Amino acid sequence: MNAEPTLSRYSAEYDPPVRGDTITAERYISREWMELENRHLWPKVWHLGGVIAEFEEPGDIVRHNFGKDSVIMVKQEGGAIRAFYNTCPHRGNRLILNDSTCMPSITCAYHSWKFDLDGTLIKVQDPDDFAGGDPCGKLRLAELRCETWGPFVFWCMDDDAAPLIEWLSPFPERLAGYGLDNWVRVLKLSSDCEFNWKIVRDNFNESYHLPTIHPEVATFINDGLPSTLFEMYPSGHNSMWMVGHQATSRKDYESGKTPSPLDEIARGWGIDPDEYTGRTSGIRQAVIEAKRRLGPQRGYTNYADMSDQQLADYFHCTLFPNLTLTMSPEQCQILRTEPHPTDPEKCIFQHWCLYPPIEGMKEVETPIGMAPLEHDAVHYHTRYGDGISLGFVADQDLSIGTTQQQGLNSRGFKGCTLPLQEKRIQRFHELLNDMVLGKD
Ligand code: FES
Ligand SMILES: [Fe+2]
Repeated sequence: MNAEPTLSRYSAEYDPPVRGDTITAERYISREWMELENRHLWPKVWHLGGVIAEFEEPGDIVRHNFGKDSVIMVKQEGGAIRAFYNTCPHRGNRLILNDSTCMPSITCAYHSWKFDLDGTLIKVQDPDDFAGGDPCGKLRLAELRCETWGPFVFWCMDDDAAPLIEWLSPFPERLAGYGLDNWVRVLKLSSDCEFNWKIVRDNFNESYHLPTIHPEVATFINDGLPSTLFEMYPSGHNSMWMVGHQATSRKDYESGKTPSPLDEIARGWGIDPDEYTGRTSGIRQAVIEAKRRLGPQRGYTNYADMSDQQLADYFHCTLFPNLTLTMSPEQCQILRTEPHPTDPEKCIFQHWCLYPPIEGMKEVETPIGMAPLEHDAVHYHTRYGDGISLGFVADQDLSIGTTQQQGLNSRGFKGCTLPLQEKRIQRFHELLNDMVLGKD
């Protein structure tokens, strides 16, 4: 049996102190909190708006509705991508009403003011009828910052925020080995959910729920605390390295036969799982060696730049405040919640999956089954609870959202009681408090 200590493992370098602020229900249910976040949080951070592959031609436009606002990212004639608020400077009509489109210029549906792709007003009705003269060439769509990293496009409303690459720290460096740049977004799913956006953020900031909510992963992901590494960075982001290709050390999987599906995964790399009976944790190292040996001939050219840890384990990157990247060598999952425009007890959940373009590979195994290895091969929006999957593991995560929201509304709930391993939740809420409280 597992005789190792069960204490949480925080890296010495990235384990900042927390104050112990009480996390009460108010932040999950009240309009006042939602309003504070709208004023002091969301306009200050970078938001993932899309993937570069969506912008092939000048005039390609991707819309990102966020809360009550809406942003459009527009591919320019010169190749750059710029972002504008999706509002007409005449009298405020929303300009782009589709999730994505392509057009040589942008025309408002109300009085037909027309804007170039760089946001400049180029045509109005009755141009002589303005006190200051023809506004064309002078008036522009309101622009916001737009920068790219890897395959991703981000926007930010704050001119004073750090450049994207700094804001993402330390992930551009930590993720470099995966070679994400040319990965293909195959899955793009989203859902309207009946809980506050932070409920799922908290869930992604802890691994305490794995044995209860995701019991199936116990035989191939080791969620035992002694081997799970938590780090909390000065940027406010945090991460969790979870050992993969190894069963959990919470139970004795070590002394028996290699459990399923680890046995199948091992066979897939030419390893006989029976040779590891009684020492099943050794499969991980064997898989690393097999991936190094066989990966290149199977088309996994990206393995060459990965560390052993990256080849075998799961790297969960949780960016403050609302973006998670879950990395394995063969899959990048984006998991995110965004606030509902008006209701603090609702949110929008998004789940994207990207895959490396492997030569000769036609299909990939996604969280909802096999799908063509093509840009946005599967994409849909749903309402959580309608029975349409958002991915097997994601469905499990979302399954507690509504009941947790209900429980937080109870007069009997006095605030969270966290074990040490949930320190990342504590820090998240303290960073949030620092940003939004006492700022009015
Ligand atoms: S509101 Fe856009 S042209 Fe009038
Ligand atoms: Fe989970």
